[in-house]
Amino acid sequence: MYTDPDPNPTLTERPNMKFFVDTAEIDAIRELHELGFVDGVTTNPSLIKKSGRDILEVTKEICDLVEGPVSAEVVATEADAMITEGRRLAEIASNIAVKLPLTWDGLKACNVLTNEGKMVNVTLCFSANQALLAAKAGASFISPFIGRLDDISLDGMELIQDIRTIYDNFGYKTEILAASIRSVNHVQDSALIGADVITAPPEVIKKLVAHPLTDKGLDAFLKDAATAGIKIV
Ligand code: E4P
Repeated sequence: MYTDPDPNPTLTERPNMKFFVDTAEIDAIRELHELGFVDGVTTNPSLIKKSGRDILEVTKEICDLVEGPVSAEVVATEADAMITEGRRLAEIASNIAVKLPLTWDGLKACNVLTNEGKMVNVTLCFSANQALLAAKAGASFISPFIGRLDDISLDGMELIQDIRTIYDNFGYKTEILAASIRSVNHVQDSALIGADVITAPPEVIKKLVAHPLTDKGLDAFLKDAATAGIKIV
């Protein structure tokens, strides 16, 4: 029997770049969850609207399915009301991350809710200075929006890199959650930079496996296997 002469214990720990799914569609989450690719879920009011579901009901269903953080976003804009909504959302399950917009009121609410021990995801981040404020306010996650910056001809990946540098300079523990991901290249570039988490629509996560040379190579192997009559079981 083969035994590894130098077993590396770190390998058994499976270093993990986290994949969150950016959707409120339960079936899509379930499909990826069964493959072990769902470390968390992000939602926002637009995704809830698209699902056609009640926010409290669908969020509870997602939390019952997924062990990792599930972001649910407040709709109030004033700090006290955000805190009330955040507390209500956090009651749904222990894995709720209250999602707050990057405004002064959002940061105030972030301070209060994180001091209560709740996970907070500060969203709609478009600058490194905003990300610095969110980290100082104790956010668990910061969500820089890559695609929406690219949409206006700015460089979304440059923002991810800048936040990585700033957080590493000072040892901030706030996790960089690369959001508004529109393409497989966004995922790869986020991984190369060292974003802690990506959140992407299910379609983008599914596209990560695709490569024409894989399909072509498999086709050739299967043809040869059939010609040679290779059978394994
Ligand atoms: C996730 O937290 C964001 O709400 C989401 O990624 C936004 O993506 P969009 O810019 O494609 O709407």
